[in-house]
Amino acid sequence: MITLGIETSCDETAVAVLKNRQILSTVVYSSMHLHKKYGGVIPEIATRHHVEVISYVLKEALKKAHMDLKAMDLISVTQRPGLIGALLVGISFAKALGYSLDVPVIGIDHVIAHLWANFLSKDYPKFPFVGLVVSGGHTSLILVKGVNKYRLLGQTQDDAVGEAFDKVAKILNLGYPGGPAVEEKAKGINKTDGIRFSESFSRDPSLDFSFSGIKTAVLYHVKKRGGVEKLKEKEISEIAFGFQKEVCDTVVRKAISACKNEGVTNLAIGGGVSANSRLRKKIAEEASLNGIDFFIPTLGLCLDNAAMTAVLGYELFKKGVRSDLYMSGFANFDHSPS
Ligand code: KG4
Ligand code: ZN
Repeated sequence: MITLGIETSCDETAVAVLKNRQILSTVVYSSMHLHKKYGGVIPEIATRHHVEVISYVLKEALKKAHMDLKAMDLISVTQRPGLIGALLVGISFAKALGYSLDVPVIGIDHVIAHLWANFLSKDYPKFPFVGLVVSGGHTSLILVKGVNKYRLLGQTQDDAVGEAFDKVAKILNLGYPGGPAVEEKAKGINKTDGIRFSESFSRDPSLDFSFSGIKTAVLYHVKKRGGVEKLKEKEISEIAFGFQKEVCDTVVRKAISACKNEGVTNLAIGGGVSANSRLRKKIAEEASLNGIDFFIPTLGLCLDNAAMTAVLGYELFKKGVRSDLYMSGFANFDHSPS
């Protein structure tokens, strides 16, 4: 079965072609270069960019897959959550394609699709599993009992973890997007010389998250030293390391707690921050200590892409799920299926 995946929830215009769960092509074209100077994604600019490039991204994906549009059996598109204008570009495009090709269209949840990136590998999670989504817009722990059967266990009460990385990078003048910049700055550092952020938050036993405190702690730390301009490169690196360590270790600790609470031994991770090397190292250590099998996508599939959109649509299709042509986009994550 050939599935065309379309993802336009934020600043990436992405199209992928899958044969069952095998990737034939995946193309991602980001409008990040247009947002950089604003320090964050501007919804109107992202939306217009999707309109301009989506046909070309589709062409490229078909070319790479050596496929004709007529070979598509299913179209899977991100329906939620995301920037509403941006979502509507992908959804309208998918509906028009579905109608003209006379193939079904399925709208999928992007947060869940981040977990489904793990189903693009030969070795994938077994149900039930705990899913940890760490992206620019979401930080969620989810108990996944099957395709379209999930329950939210905990989520951030304020900033998403990727958003916290982005804001801390801004405080440290490291540019945007902040996650990779903070990781790069923290490289080679393995102790913080007394810089520790927000211990109380890291000891919180609930499965919810809060990242606004640690972000503010970094801000005050920098202010107390007279501003980032007054800091030496090594000090900036140590702050980046201290923040990254605290955030990644806490996220991993909560994911392991969720597995223990729910009595499950499979953990799947997804979302942009799962590309972070500290998080990847920590999860490997903790999972092995606690007898948990963990799954994390290859680096390219951690960030937004349409292969994960396609594979989730494919699995939903096999379960009999269909969307109709009245489908619209939604800004929020859907917690309800169970
Ligand atoms: O999943 P994603 O591509 O988009 C959303 O669905 O939000 O995640 C983007 C987020 C950004 O906040 C970015 O700074 C963060 O993922 N990110 C990272 C790394 N690479 C991307 N955060 C920490 N370390 C990284 N290496
Ligand atoms: Zn995402």
